[in-house]
Amino acid sequence: MKQDFFKYQAQTTPHPLAIEVSHAIGSYIYDTNNKKYLDFVAGVSACSLGHKHPRIIRAVKDQLDKYLHVMVYGEYIQQPAVELTKLLASHLPHPLEKTYLTNSGTEAIEGSLKLARRVTGRSQIIAAKLAYHGNTMGSMSVMGYEERKQAFRPLIPDTAFITFNDEKDIKQITRKTGAVILETIQGGAGFIEPKYEYLKKVKKQCEEVGALLILDEIQPGFGRTGKLFGFQNYDIIPDIVVMGKGMGGGLPVGAFTASTTMMDQLQDNPKLGHITTFGGNPVIAAAALATLQEITESDVMAATLEKEKLFRSLLIHPLIKEVRGLGLMLAFITPSAEITNQVILKCQDHGLILFWLLFEPLAIRITPPLTISESEIREGCQIILTVLDQIQDIKI
Ligand SMILES: Cc1ncc(COP(=O)(O)O)c(C=O)c1O
Repeated sequence: MKQDFFKYQAQTTPHPLAIEVSHAIGSYIYDTNNKKYLDFVAGVSACSLGHKHPRIIRAVKDQLDKYLHVMVYGEYIQQPAVELTKLLASHLPHPLEKTYLTNSGTEAIEGSLKLARRVTGRSQIIAAKLAYHGNTMGSMSVMGYEERKQAFRPLIPDTAFITFNDEKDIKQITRKTGAVILETIQGGAGFIEPKYEYLKKVKKQCEEVGALLILDEIQPGFGRTGKLFGFQNYDIIPDIVVMGKGMGGGLPVGAFTASTTMMDQLQDNPKLGHITTFGGNPVIAAAALATLQEITESDVMAATLEKEKLFRSLLIHPLIKEVRGLGLMLAFITPSAEITNQVILKCQDHGLILFWLLFEPLAIRITPPLTISESEIREGCQIILTVLDQIQDIKI
């Protein structure tokens, strides 16, 4: 299998982690040698309720028995998609009411950028340096990391970049600006939280000049920061909210939500303003609905903040310079990229899954399932500390 993996399946790096997966349940992934890995990454924030959550599996199986794909997005009335969008509206503040369901996060970002252009009639999009919003041409155009996009230029024109949390830069948002797109908490940059008033100030400037604020909730979304959406921690309401990853409970999904007045503009002049074959797919929507129901009806969301405290109390070591983030969207910072690499690889040997962040070589991602237990947190942190001790001994 390993040989075929390298021979036939296109790779994104020359050195993938290459665990050969047999099955996964709860907070653990098992390889084909039956080695057990505690999962502190959750498919990069995608498996919010852990692996094979019974409520999600049941919802998917029930839907499989009824029908799979029947029609392109939006033409037929399909219960899972309708219930999902209705429930989302009930959990979002006014006027965020109408949701377009997509196949992935990046497609939802594309849709949100198109919607912003359509609504404002302006082309300029302002994004943040070190931002990541996806990897298709439009979302890559608003990625704030030149090194990774240079080879793919020309991208969409009329983009500009401001420094996240820098209030002086806010003045660059002008009457030419159609939209400002920001991650509520910057992920790839190293889990950088907005300073409390920053997002409010950006929103105020957007209102003054008639630009829209798009918040990318693809990582914090669905409960990871103690609230359903990260922006609910910062007392603001964006014009468009984009979600994905953890929304699907392990199946591929994305969505963007705006006011009805805005969203209805995608239907007209030109009609078919954003179309997709599989967006709103009934099996995926059933999984996302079950995920949303479980997260909002159980205590997992509230418990994330207690779990964050536990992580912070355990992750104390001379080689841990800082623990960043909010809730179960955490990263710890090591003194060097080399140590980061060693920690991730050695922890994997010891049966703990960790991962890198895109643009911060010193950071190590901790985004476990929200369902992770206290004893599993202790078990994983003990592995991290043991590995850090070993690395420290080698260094000395
Ligand atoms: C903040 C953010 N936005 C957008 C995306 C793109 O989502 P997808 O990989 O589902 O296209 C990601 C994925 O990592 C992300 O972290």
